[in-house]
Amino acid sequence: MPRGIFITLEGLDGSGKTTQIKRLAAWLTRRGHQPFLLRQPGGTAIGDRIRELLLDSRSRSLDPMTEMALMFADRAQAIAEIIQPALDAGKVVVCDRFTDSTEAYQGGGRKLGSQVVLDLHRLICRDVQPDLTLLLLPGFAVSLARARRRNLRDTSETGRDENRFETEKDGFFRRVWEKYHEIAGREPNRVVLIEGDLSIDEVHEQIIESVSERIVSLAQKS
Ligand code: TMP
Repeated sequence: MPRGIFITLEGLDGSGKTTQIKRLAAWLTRRGHQPFLLRQPGGTAIGDRIRELLLDSRSRSLDPMTEMALMFADRAQAIAEIIQPALDAGKVVVCDRFTDSTEAYQGGGRKLGSQVVLDLHRLICRDVQPDLTLLLLPGFAVSLARARRRNLRDTSETGRDENRFETEKDGFFRRVWEKYHEIAGREPNRVVLIEGDLSIDEVHEQIIESVSERIVSLAQKS
């Protein structure tokens, strides 16, 4: 059985990932690749509990190292429970954030550096590596404003507080942004950078072009 395909979406909060994942999933389904969708942190019962701890703005005293360790704890559970079994069964897995988020947010934003993140990835995630990463980086100011608005709305509608990261200062998100660019520059074969002021349709077009190419090239290799 050929290994499945592992696709991740990355970007700053408010970059439009959620909309694009829904559209990509619909496109994959129409082509007969019923995808497995998950998000990080979260996506498993254990992961959802870790997510709560990580994103709740009452977790103010969370140390950056603890934060990074929890991101990897969540990831280890998602790999064991969902990602690896789905890939072994030849499925397409679409994950909203993966280790690039840890490198960008904890490595860049929290200034822990890339090396510790990459070392932990090797130790904990072994050879689970995305085949394709779609990195959405629309305008910096637009993304941030959208993320802050969305989280305040979600809190008032659901009572859930997932605002801890959005309350960070702009400097934090600048570092996240720069680290994402660094990752894209370092791994051009895996990471497709989609940036600038594009419409939802334009971003979707670029995504399906990259995904189609990757599906064909992986099928040729297997
Ligand atoms: P989201 O599910 O709305 O994208 O929010 C998840 C938040 O968690 C987002 O602000 C990015 C942050 N995050 C990290 O800091 N490190 C990580 O490894 C992951 C997966 C997410």
